[in-house]
Amino acid sequence: MGPLSLPLITERLRLRTYRESDADAHLPILSREDVSRFLLNDPWTAEVARTEIAKRIPRTGLETESRALALVIETADGLDAIEGSRVLGDIALWLDGESERKAEIGWILDPAAGGHGFATEAATAVLNVAFDHYDLHRVFAQMDARNTASVKMAARLGMRQEAHLRRDWWSKGEWTDTVIFGMLSSDRQRT
Ligand SMILES: CC(C)(COP(=O)(O)OP(=O)(O)OC[C@H]1O[C@@H](n2cnc3c(N)ncnc32)[C@H](O)[C@@H]1OP(=O)(O)O)[C@@H](O)C(=O)NCCC(=O)NCCS
Repeated sequence: MGPLSLPLITERLRLRTYRESDADAHLPILSREDVSRFLLNDPWTAEVARTEIAKRIPRTGLETESRALALVIETADGLDAIEGSRVLGDIALWLDGESERKAEIGWILDPAAGGHGFATEAATAVLNVAFDHYDLHRVFAQMDARNTASVKMAARLGMRQEAHLRRDWWSKGEWTDTVIFGMLSSDRQRT
């Protein structure tokens, strides 16, 4: 698999790799309790933002040593109806374990930018890259079963719910259920 041409441009968005200044741009989103509620991490502090963003900067493609593609969701030029920062969120794809053909996808959107289909638009572009550029066999997403916004989004993307794991994950002081959604390259050929 060769290098990908970045940024990815969609109808309303630009999906680009990370730079150091993203620590400041992301802190207002990732420091929120409501955003991190169903994530593995606690709300970010400024110091966590710097170390987390530094980890993401090298994630520029599945073919790189990082085996991951981490992209910032930004509004494309000419779309500034969103208050404040132009950074709307994050979308990432990372190879699963030793496999070269299976990857996990994850998404986060600033609640201020929610409800416009931006996260779905970004994830659709990344799924296209996953199957059409990287020739993956399977992409999956896993989430806290109570995360209805994320569950709805996976379904909207055309991913199929494959599992509901009961109380399998210790998160923030309690055992939580996990749901797993998957999409196979063969699912896409049928559509
Ligand atoms: C999960 C998350 C990204 C979903 O955000 P979202 O705003 O619901 O998703 P989208 O940007 O795709 O917007 C979809 C909504 O916009 C609506 N919408 C409006 N225009 C749309 C369009 N052109 N295309 C698609 N949907 C559109 C949809 O109907 C949907 O609204 P609904 O849920 O009321 O039906 C967000 O809730 C989030 O970041 N949560 C916190 C972090 C997190 O938990 N991440 C997932 C970890 S597994």
